[in-house]
Amino acid sequence: MILRPGLLQPRSGTGLEPPPRRSWWWALRRLAFGTAAERRLIRYRLAEIAASAIGGCWVPEDQKLWQQDQSFWRDYRRVAGRNLRSAERKYAVRELVRALADVPGDTAECGVFEGATSFFICQARGGGTHHAFDSFAGLSAPASEDEPEVSTAAAWRAGDLCRSETVARRNLASFPEVRFYPGWIPERFGEVASCRFSFVHIDVDLYRPTRDSLEFFYPRVSPGGMIVCDDYGYVNCPGAKQACDELAADWPEPWIHLPTGQGLLIKQASESDASSCS
Ligand SMILES: C[S@@+](CC[C@H](N)C(=O)[O-])C[C@H]1O[C@@H](n2cnc3c(N)ncnc32)[C@H](O)[C@@H]1O
Repeated sequence: MILRPGLLQPRSGTGLEPPPRRSWWWALRRLAFGTAAERRLIRYRLAEIAASAIGGCWVPEDQKLWQQDQSFWRDYRRVAGRNLRSAERKYAVRELVRALADVPGDTAECGVFEGATSFFICQARGGGTHHAFDSFAGLSAPASEDEPEVSTAAAWRAGDLCRSETVARRNLASFPEVRFYPGWIPERFGEVASCRFSFVHIDVDLYRPTRDSLEFFYPRVSPGGMIVCDDYGYVNCPGAKQACDELAADWPEPWIHLPTGQGLLIKQASESDASSCS
């Protein structure tokens, strides 16, 4: 059998371009006996062929430097297990928080789950307290805004994504500066009303708690600080994007829609002073 021209061809400029037509026999031989670069290329092309045959999915590029950051993967596997789907979002959060060393304020996460994103926030931050909000009883009841418009997305149900606080506490045990606020958002926000924040991560999937979190935290984010909404670019979380866009209509800053699916807002300078709470 002859492969379609280009099917197993690497991108140009890699120095590995084969002639345009190759057989499966050629590919299998390379897979077994080729150089490391050839074996990687064949594996990657086979994954692309499988994804295109299944339909509706694609294989992301696999030659990025961050994907080879072994210390990140050691931590990621420990706090997020085998779920690889959110690795690039965790990495993005870690890099963003690292860039905020000079911005005053605490950090916070709304929607902690097992604590994976909070782990990378704590690892990257400069100082202060990290405030961790979650029901630890899963999602609250979805609203009409949360109904997905596309048939391929399943609707959320109350109680989905329920995880025990114990798991989050265990994953964050090496960071004594974490404070936990178990309960429904926004019930416990009042306890941090006097704080200022350099970075806030909002990841509650639904319209109402996303809106409540933004309304509370946006005025408390320091100039130059950031809010990331994890669910901004997801077809199964339409309510989260709606909440972000509705509120930002009255704010000077736009949401930046990242290809990871996250929404990023960088707070502009305002008249209010900013510092962390004690
Ligand atoms: C997608 S998970 C968060 C994932 C987490 N950020 C991570 O890094 O793995 C969503 C979380 O939001 C929480 N949640 C959803 N609605 C909530 C609400 N109204 N109040 C408090 N927590 C809520 C759920 O309990 C769940 O743990």
